[in-house]
Amino acid sequence: MNKIHAAITAVNGYVPDYILTNHELETIVDTSDEWIVTRTGIKERRILKGEGLGTSDMAVPAVNGLLEKRGIGADEIDLIIFCTTTPDRVFPATANILADKIGAKNAWGYDLQATCSGFLFGLATGSQFIESGKHKKVLVVAGDKMSSMIDYQDRQTCIIFGDGCGAVLLEPNYEGNGVIDSVLKSDGSGVQFLHQKAGGSVKPTSHETIDAREHYLYQEGQAVFKFAVTNMAEVSAEVMERNNLKADDIAWLVPHQANKRIIDATVSRTGIDPEKATINIERYGNTTNATLPLCLWEWESKFKKGDNLILAAFGGGFTWGALYLKWAY
Ligand code: UT7
Repeated sequence: MNKIHAAITAVNGYVPDYILTNHELETIVDTSDEWIVTRTGIKERRILKGEGLGTSDMAVPAVNGLLEKRGIGADEIDLIIFCTTTPDRVFPATANILADKIGAKNAWGYDLQATCSGFLFGLATGSQFIESGKHKKVLVVAGDKMSSMIDYQDRQTCIIFGDGCGAVLLEPNYEGNGVIDSVLKSDGSGVQFLHQKAGGSVKPTSHETIDAREHYLYQEGQAVFKFAVTNMAEVSAEVMERNNLKADDIAWLVPHQANKRIIDATVSRTGIDPEKATINIERYGNTTNATLPLCLWEWESKFKKGDNLILAAFGGGFTWGALYLKWAY
């Protein structure tokens, strides 16, 4: 029997209706549309409004639409991997909450925390269950309600992030299409540059931490930028080199959408035609775990069976990686 690869057989996405434009941000913090567009490439981002709504509430429409596209029921799902940095609650896992909401009665699941690289880590780990023959249908969901941890008084971070969720289904493929290879990395010494100061076991939330605004995302942008610009490009080149792929062999580069300048550096380092890079940062900003599946969702109609895709990401932690995928349909 041919080797089993884990192939994406369906993809779907969901973004909330509310559009937070650069012009609206100009009324909230000391910034300008011109500064944001020049430094990041972002024009607007989506925000999940409404009391009591969390990340799983974006996953429900994303996954229900995906199941409909694939023509299967939720009870056919074996495993749900929910990649998120903004889970509904610290516990239990959002994967569990989602399984209940969509009626995935036969699935087990867990949350995966790898910040902006979460979807890549989720694809790589989900693939193992397919390749081993253990499971037939693995759902990799990646989403974040970043607005729940953003300080809208901090102009350096509130202009970047947005909310959204994407999902893919992994199934066995016997034609050589699917996840082929990945280079995944992490470096915990990067924690100082991008983290949430309070709310974890080291510093549980208290009146003092709230007053000090420590429950919000903290980022030293320049340090993160320098690390990202070098490392996302480097792993993309590495996964191409070790699979003997030249720039012309790549149909699509799917980069994490954190900053247009970081995307441009990756395009330049790999030599891939800029027209072949999926870029939607101007409309959604940085949706953390959701950036890659939202790109796959929006470009799905352009992908052809057998296309070589390179997915690349970089995130807090630090975590980063690149994954080589052959599109299966
Ligand atoms: O996906 C997770 C990983 N995260 C990332 O990849 C983010 C990486 N970092 C970045 O994308 C960039 O560092 C930022 C977009 C966050 C900031 O851009 P930058 O070009 O690194 O700006 P900077 O921090 O060096 O600031 C330059 C100037 C400063 O003013 P002075 O000191 O030169 O007078 C800032 O105070 O721009 C100022 N500034 C702003 N001005 C207007 C910072 N934020 C803003 C703003 N509007 N929103």
